[in-house]
Amino acid sequence: MSGSCFITGAAGFIGSHLVDRLLASGRQVIGIDNLSLGRRSHLESAMQSGSFKFHEGDVNDYERLLAFAQQVHKENPIDCLWHLAANSDIQAGGENPEIDLRSTFLTTFHSLKLAHALQIPHVLFASTSAIYGVQSGLLTEDGGPWFPISNYGAMKLASEAALTAALERHLKRAWIFRFPNVVGSRSTHGAIHDFVKKLRKTPEELVVLGDGTQEKPYLHVSELIEAMIHLWQTAPHRLNYYNIAPPDTATTVRHMAESTVKAVSPSARIRYTGGDRGWVGDVPRFAYSIAKLQATGWSPRLSSNQAVEQAIREVAAENPA
Ligand SMILES: NC(=O)c1ccc[n+]([C@@H]2O[C@H](COP(=O)([O-])OP(=O)(O)OC[C@H]3O[C@@H](n4cnc5c(N)ncnc54)[C@H](O)[C@@H]3O)[C@@H](O)[C@H]2O)c1
Repeated sequence: MSGSCFITGAAGFIGSHLVDRLLASGRQVIGIDNLSLGRRSHLESAMQSGSFKFHEGDVNDYERLLAFAQQVHKENPIDCLWHLAANSDIQAGGENPEIDLRSTFLTTFHSLKLAHALQIPHVLFASTSAIYGVQSGLLTEDGGPWFPISNYGAMKLASEAALTAALERHLKRAWIFRFPNVVGSRSTHGAIHDFVKKLRKTPEELVVLGDGTQEKPYLHVSELIEAMIHLWQTAPHRLNYYNIAPPDTATTVRHMAESTVKAVSPSARIRYTGGDRGWVGDVPRFAYSIAKLQATGWSPRLSSNQAVEQAIREVAAENPA
């Protein structure tokens, strides 16, 4: 199999699953992460593989990034760069916009600069539903214009633009994956993670932001990885941009809270704080069109509710009482 894969954000929730999947398929994988949000323990099994190299470092420390990447590139040319490093704490980025400037946008800028310097032909980018902002109806890839309502969404949309500009200058091909909330083992943030943690601490009550009617699609991390690999291997264009989401509509916060209580602390009462938004910058309700993804012959098997229920079991098992 040709070339190695370079992954930014490799020790993160999604990045570490991607590392495992690429190693299982026989690829050489190089991961970088500054461990600001990721965990070395997520890479425990990858570290056993002779095909994996990990560099603890910051993507924005460009000189060091380049020196490290040049070295591994010499040994085994990098043919694809998966850019996943970002700030995943969207609320923190709302309070301090510099966080998303640095972690979400500048990491893209430096990843693209690296791709240019080493002539890496393919870049794959983890984008998000947050670029769409508040829209009515099904979100399709080709609608727009988009007006994100979080700094995170704004910096992701700017990153998509930087990627298409790089495609014009030096990249051979690019992939943009826009996905909603992803759930599953190793997650370190998000509602399921918060609910499980809160219930472990206070088993008698779960306090939930909003009124429980917020409704979003949730995708299981195993299906996200499968979809990204499928699109990487089959999407035919120079610029490939896809929504990746569950086949049905969405899961309400109420369903998620009730399912978590059932799995973790069945006698707990749920208290909603009220209002239809959980926090500033949060899009309360949206639904994805995945017609474009399905037209490639791949569709997720888990509904949003099934993905959530599976993830609750996994996160509860990782955070025992
Ligand atoms: N989890 C979701 O629901 C979701 C939804 C849509 C898009 N995404 C995107 O998918 C990607 C992965 O998300 P995740 O949920 O695994 O988040 P995560 O926080 O677990 O992973 C991101 C990783 O990037 C690392 N990182 C951040 N800044 C860095 C820097 N300057 N240099 C090196 N490493 C750095 C963090 O330490 C972390 O390990 C992100 O780009 C995120 O925006 C995630």
